Amino acid sequence: MENIKSYVQQHKDRFINELIELLKIPSVSADTAYSQDVIDTSEAVKVSLEKAGCDLVEVCDTPGYPIIYGEKIIDPNLPTVLVYGHYDVQPPDPMELWTSLPFEPVIKTTDIHPEGAIFARGACDDKGQMYMHVKALEYMVQSNTLPCNVKFMIEGEEEVGSASLAWFVERNQEKLKNDVILISDTGMISNQQPSITTGLRGLSYVEVEVTGPNRDLHSGLYGGAVANPINILAKMIASLHDEDNHITIPGFYDKVQELSAEERAEMAKAPFSLEKYKNALNIADVYGEKGYVTNERNSIRPTLDVNGIWGGYQGEGAKTVIASKAFAKISMRLVPNQDWHEITELFTQHFTSIAPAGVTVKVTPHHGGQGYVTPIDSIGYKAANMAYTETFGVPAIPVRSGGSIPIVSLFEKELKSKTILMGFGLDSDAIHSPNEHFGIFNYLKGIETIPLFYKYFVELSK
Ligand code: BES
Ligand code: MN
Ligand code: MN
Repeated sequence: MENIKSYVQQHKDRFINELIELLKIPSVSADTAYSQDVIDTSEAVKVSLEKAGCDLVEVCDTPGYPIIYGEKIIDPNLPTVLVYGHYDVQPPDPMELWTSLPFEPVIKTTDIHPEGAIFARGACDDKGQMYMHVKALEYMVQSNTLPCNVKFMIEGEEEVGSASLAWFVERNQEKLKNDVILISDTGMISNQQPSITTGLRGLSYVEVEVTGPNRDLHSGLYGGAVANPINILAKMIASLHDEDNHITIPGFYDKVQELSAEERAEMAKAPFSLEKYKNALNIADVYGEKGYVTNERNSIRPTLDVNGIWGGYQGEGAKTVIASKAFAKISMRLVPNQDWHEITELFTQHFTSIAPAGVTVKVTPHHGGQGYVTPIDSIGYKAANMAYTETFGVPAIPVRSGGSIPIVSLFEKELKSKTILMGFGLDSDAIHSPNEHFGIFNYLKGIETIPLFYKYFVELSK
């Protein structure tokens, strides 16, 4: 049988078309209007794993969306790789900013992807990256080169906090037993410079509600005499950062793991152009915590950001009104050793305590998760690096990412194994944004690189 490179060349059109079919199903987990589509997508994932060569594929029912479990066990004495991915996607809005429809995938070229990229919601996060693993399995089965056992666990609630996956993992530790967990749901530095994600931030996501008077009021008759919940909410939110952009919640930084000067110097070696960064976002300058550079602010430092804020009159024209209520959704990205339950508690106490007497405040926690860091001297990391080195011609650089995959720390706790984050996306792929896309180069390179991970992982495990 030919090698992986020629297999990809020979089958690439089919690989692309199969992914496009998967992307057409709008599996938006956050919105119940799409629930049948989410279920249809799980079914499509199941069929794809059967076709790729799994011996057993199960639709595992959960309190939420099903988890697709697949396996091919060739010899119980050989190592087992557990592949995790998610088939759900973020909501596509704002719709009007898409240049083509989010669930009608099209291939377009960009400056960064001259060979073309598939534009669709979920193209990179995570259907495209998950499907690379399905096609890599197909190759290894077809060419009889699968060197170890493989298990797949593909969920449909990652974008809403993975509640059912936590439930499933706790109940299926034996079934999910493995030697290493492999995930492609992160990014790399560029198509010329691969990187391996060695850290993820944790998360605490809360919603706040500020209530003032018992009804919306005339802003002339009452303005100036009662607390305006929107004014108050804005003031409270503004007070959560000081002039150095440190977060002011008492105790917030107590457990933050500080990096040594050596570690920070090592981080600074990763290629990065501030000019390009600013140009790509059309901003005149960056903004953030004093004492840290951009690549530290967005990875090793915790943050607090408003993700949405609303209240009062938002229709056409002007309405003179003091709203009874104001709302905001707030995320805090956390770093290793910060505990998300503790941070949620600290936030709730502080936010409630700074409210003036004229309003009441309600804080509702949503989901969260712990951060993650992984060493670079493990067999898994080395195998991943060897695989990237072979397909890209240069070694991968370890990078701590700012994003969160809360389930990774749970895997370590429940399944006692390390996760290797082999991402093939780029920051410019616009995940969660309008016009999300995934480079054809990246997709095919991923399919090419994954079988090498298996090969080297098994070799290094001997
Ligand atoms: N795949 C992303 C996380 C990610 C992307 C990590 C790029 C590193 C690099 C994942 O699907 C995601 O969006 N996670 C959420 C958290 C979740 C609890 C909703 C996030 O980071 O906002
Ligand atoms: Mn993802
Ligand atoms: Mn995501």
